[in-house]
Amino acid sequence: MLEMKHITKRFPGVVALSDISLSLNSGEVHALVGENGAGKSTLMKVLNGVYQADEGQIFIDGKTVHPRNTREAQHLGISIIFQEFSLVPYLNAYENIFLGRELLTRLGMVNYSAMREKAGSALEAMNVSLPLDKPVAELTVAEQQFVEIAKATLFKCSYLVLDEPSATLTPLEVEKLFEVIRRLQSQGVGCFYISHHLEEIYEIADTVSVLRDGQHVFTGPISSCSQDELITKMVGREVTQAFPPKRAPEAISREAVLEVKALKFEKSEMLSFQVRKGEILGVAGLVGARRTESFLALIGRDHATHKEVLLNGKPCRISSPAAALEQGIGYLPEDRKKSGLFLQFSIRSNIVISNFDKLKGMFGFVSNKKESDLSAYYVDRMRIRTTTDRKMISELSGGNQQKAIIARWLATRCQVLIFDEPTRGIDVGAKAEIYLMLQELADEGLGIVVISSDLPEVVGIADRILVMRYGSIRAELSGKDIDSEKIMYYAAGGE
Ligand SMILES: Nc1ncnc2c1ncn2[C@@H]1O[C@H](COP(=O)(O)OP(=O)(O)OP(=O)(O)O)[C@@H](O)[C@H]1O
Ligand SMILES: [Mg+2]
Repeated sequence: MLEMKHITKRFPGVVALSDISLSLNSGEVHALVGENGAGKSTLMKVLNGVYQADEGQIFIDGKTVHPRNTREAQHLGISIIFQEFSLVPYLNAYENIFLGRELLTRLGMVNYSAMREKAGSALEAMNVSLPLDKPVAELTVAEQQFVEIAKATLFKCSYLVLDEPSATLTPLEVEKLFEVIRRLQSQGVGCFYISHHLEEIYEIADTVSVLRDGQHVFTGPISSCSQDELITKMVGREVTQAFPPKRAPEAISREAVLEVKALKFEKSEMLSFQVRKGEILGVAGLVGARRTESFLALIGRDHATHKEVLLNGKPCRISSPAAALEQGIGYLPEDRKKSGLFLQFSIRSNIVISNFDKLKGMFGFVSNKKESDLSAYYVDRMRIRTTTDRKMISELSGGNQQKAIIARWLATRCQVLIFDEPTRGIDVGAKAEIYLMLQELADEGLGIVVISSDLPEVVGIADRILVMRYGSIRAELSGKDIDSEKIMYYAAGGE
């Protein structure tokens, strides 16, 4: 059994964890939930030796242990898969798995074939097959995750920490992940599982613990607590309605702000659709629907073989994301790391960075006051949990970093804003606030596109929905026609 007792961890100006005691039995899946910035990742990093606790102790089978880094933790049988992956992108799966402890031949050379074979059988034991020889950058996120898990299990691993493993996975991949977790569980591995998707927790966890503002507020069997009760414990208040009320379909203009007359890229059919002034357009689909690819081709990040686009009725050329932005089309990518987080800058700079034009005062200098007002507004509205926006963005929790990037795009006031999986990793309370802000922008006449794999989310916020499958648009639903079953039906190939 693994125990953490009276753990306290402070960062300058923040008590990230205050007197937390939690335990994990072998074969147990223990979910850890709480709002963005509650302390979940920090607690797990203390357990894995990334951070040293200021107070408190860790026990394994009754004996105290003091891991000073992840390697020492691994020797104690504790492995972590971080919220942000730590694979080396240009190395392949087995080079990553054995990084820093390469298997050697008798002559002291790196034994690639042995590493390849061992990695292969570890993945096979998880019932996962993936290309072993490709650089991991070319694998899907799910596959990368399995490489990380294989890496953990190939060494003595009795306790595994998964920090938001599902945030970037599609529902099918999540099922596969759960299969792997159950398999490990049956081998006696205990898991801490962090997620903002509460339905998942009810599916996989035995026990749930809630952190709030660095405090431990609840631990109990998952069956002892309903989802609503859990949310109330997390946010300390009742969250009533996640989605703002929808506008009547007649109330939305039929005028297109963006009209895609013809768009084709390598793996798609000819696509055509409109984004109307003042509407939220949802884009739904399953794995391989090519939703992201379509929009990357639209904004000019990827090559399109054919592209005819009208902006406010006028033909426009979009040769790159920068050109798109200049013409008023903003795109927030799904991957936080690639989405231009400036880690060495403050929270404030990260929020205002695309808005310098608007912030210029007389003589063309950027006005400090305007900058700080803009930033303060979003920090407050989006509940970005920090003492000051002058802090480095790298000091924020994962979800709060994501909020800051969303704020940057909301603040640009482009005519068309495209959000790809905007609320991944965002807690329930802040999600509701983001939905409200999207609605407000739409009310101001912007065209908003939300690509989302979260069905309740698209159903809850979209005025109109495009359902995609294998690079073609299979259905367009609006008004009363919008419901999860219809979307699934078309997404799965129904006619
Ligand atoms: N390296 C750091 N330096 C300073 N403060 C930090 C650092 N890491 C985390 N914090 C602070 O500690 C608190 C807890 O952060 P933590 O990352 O543990 O939250 P979390 O529960 O994992 O949130 P999320 O759901 O957003 O991932 C936050 O206030 C955060 O800003
Ligand atoms: Mg976290």
